[in-house]
Amino acid sequence: MTEEHGTDEHRPPVRIERDGVVATVVIDRPKALNALSPDVLRAVADAFDALRAEADAVRGVIVVGEGGRAFVAGADIRSLSTLTPEEGAESARLGHRVAAAIEGFPAPVIACVDGFALGGGLELALACDLIYATESSSFGQPEVRLGLIPGFGGTVRLPRAVGLPLAKELIFTGRRIDAATAEAAGLVARRFPDRDALLAGARATIDEVAENAWTAVALAKRVLVEAAGTPTATATDLEVAGFADAFRTEDMREGVAAFIEKREPEFSGH
Ligand code: HXC
Repeated sequence: MTEEHGTDEHRPPVRIERDGVVATVVIDRPKALNALSPDVLRAVADAFDALRAEADAVRGVIVVGEGGRAFVAGADIRSLSTLTPEEGAESARLGHRVAAAIEGFPAPVIACVDGFALGGGLELALACDLIYATESSSFGQPEVRLGLIPGFGGTVRLPRAVGLPLAKELIFTGRRIDAATAEAAGLVARRFPDRDALLAGARATIDEVAENAWTAVALAKRVLVEAAGTPTATATDLEVAGFADAFRTEDMREGVAAFIEKREPEFSGH
């Protein structure tokens, strides 16, 4: 049997770990700095589809790369090298399918970056709701150095995260920025000294979110994701629809009743 270059023997490239209400999707291809081959991309999408089936029990997802050197160093350059234009488009669509699975997941998804988040790796992180990072991490869209452009959503989500001028500078130069610069630019929500603190910080955020009505968190995410980049009137219509949907939930009745009765709410997730 032939083994994909950089794949660690006998291990699937993506695994799910569960710890209470937190699920962790681990990209496990450290020999290739967790580069996203088509198989890895499909496995990430499958992981989110599998977690969706138990969304009632999952209040947040962490995405992390194995090995301590990289979150993800990009799309797998070897896999891209022989593609026709049509196959290139197909490859980009696969990346967008992964992003859609993450953005459609009805709970927050936190990219925990510990090392390189480059090209498709940064784009994967950008599809997540939040990026947390260790101090030693670095970020960039180096595609133009390969004669490529971002293809997993970098031209769309990076400007939303950091503003159009800085996104253009990063994409045109292909330069890497460190975690402190990424935090100052609004790309990274929080910085941590090391990997343990990073993962603990992400778990703490998910635990804090889990105390809220998760129906409301899911609705808020839906509106935030769908409204991003749309004209104001469309965005406010989406907010109105989401706000109305909150009134269909038991959680909203419970949350408001608990406030009026001066007691702690007991949310059921319905
Ligand atoms: C395939 C990769 C890879 C990648 C690293 N590797 N990045 N393999 N695709 N994107 C492999 C290397 O070939 C090497 O394998 C091993 O991982 C370790 O990497 P080194 O280069 O030896 O490590 P180092 O010298 O520390 O340099 C780290 C690095 C460098 C700066 C991150 O690896 C690098 O520049 N990688 C490419 C980054 C990049 O251009 N990403 C964008 C890809 S295009 P061997 O077998 O030699 O040990 C993209 C497009 C997205 O993402 C849209 C597509 C539709």
